[in-house]
Amino acid sequence: HLPKNVTIIEVGPRDGLQNEAKFIETPVKIQFIEKLKEAGIKEMELTAFVSPKWVPQMKDADDIIASNSGTSRNIVLTPNEKGVERALEAGCKSIAFFVGVSDTFNLKNINKSTKESMEAILPMIKKLKDQDLFIRACISTAFYCPYEGKMKETDVLDLCGQFSKAGVDDLSVADTIGLANPLEAYSLFSKLKASFSETLLTAHFHDTRGMALANIFAALQAGIDRFDSSAGGLGGCPFAPGSSGNIATEDVVFMLEQMNISTGIDLSKLFEAIELVEISLSKPILSKQYSLLSKR
Ligand code: HMG
Ligand code: MG
Repeated sequence: HLPKNVTIIEVGPRDGLQNEAKFIETPVKIQFIEKLKEAGIKEMELTAFVSPKWVPQMKDADDIIASNSGTSRNIVLTPNEKGVERALEAGCKSIAFFVGVSDTFNLKNINKSTKESMEAILPMIKKLKDQDLFIRACISTAFYCPYEGKMKETDVLDLCGQFSKAGVDDLSVADTIGLANPLEAYSLFSKLKASFSETLLTAHFHDTRGMALANIFAALQAGIDRFDSSAGGLGGCPFAPGSSGNIATEDVVFMLEQMNISTGIDLSKLFEAIELVEISLSKPILSKQYSLLSKR
């Protein structure tokens, strides 16, 4: 029993670009975001209010938000109180926190243990919910950690439970290094679906080993109808060795539309967005659908 419609949450401007060493000029990023909206994207991670020393590509977060318009759900990532302050100052209405199931990964990513992160984040979520903001929680290393190996499902469920209790609107559960297989994806997402029926649930797959589309199909069967993906298949976390690109938005859209599942996304407009970034990065974009297009 599969859904008729699926929501794609575009993470290209954030996850897609954060791992690129070459700085993409701010006006190009702004145009990229506009083109993605024209293609029909309704929810998007635009940027991250993180330390510019840690992730230089995101140093222009203020300018990205200042130039942004429209009615879409515009999400920004924040790692700490300073990030939240910057986001509120910029007028953001949808904020994402991120935490790793794995302590080692969390320390490398935000310089705190998972427990320390949660102790800092949960009170912030409660405050922001009082101001009626949309809150997303991104759960990293939900299947495997590059440092600690396989994660326990019970630890993921426990972390999601803490977020859910604090009132988050969306749980985005991530296979950070693209090592989950479809059986594992089905198992975890079925349990999440059974436990958190009141919360939006999103699957975030990286395609490091080519298993992301199969995992999306498994998650669909577990009842998931929200997927994070990145235009052009760019992406990866700079602090998770082996995390290559997110699953490409165009490849997800193509597969789902072939299955008569509607995404509301116009592929030809999406390709225009990707082309902008391809030119700016001066390297070819290698997603399946985009490469096929260039051979037509
Ligand atoms: P720290 O060094 O422990 O921070 O880093 P600190 O509090 O000691 O501050 C050090 C300096 O950073 C200070 O400046 C602060 O003001 C500044 P200084 O006095 O040295 O000039 N600072 C900030 N500046 C701007 N914005 C801020 C901010 N906070 C402090 N928000 C910190 C801790 C959390 C800041 C750092 O570790 C960090 O920024 N980490 C972000 C890492 C990141 O962006 N990772 C990628 C996103 S997560 C991901 O990709 C996974 C996901 O896609 C799901 C999946 O696939 O798994 C979501
Ligand atoms: Mg990611």
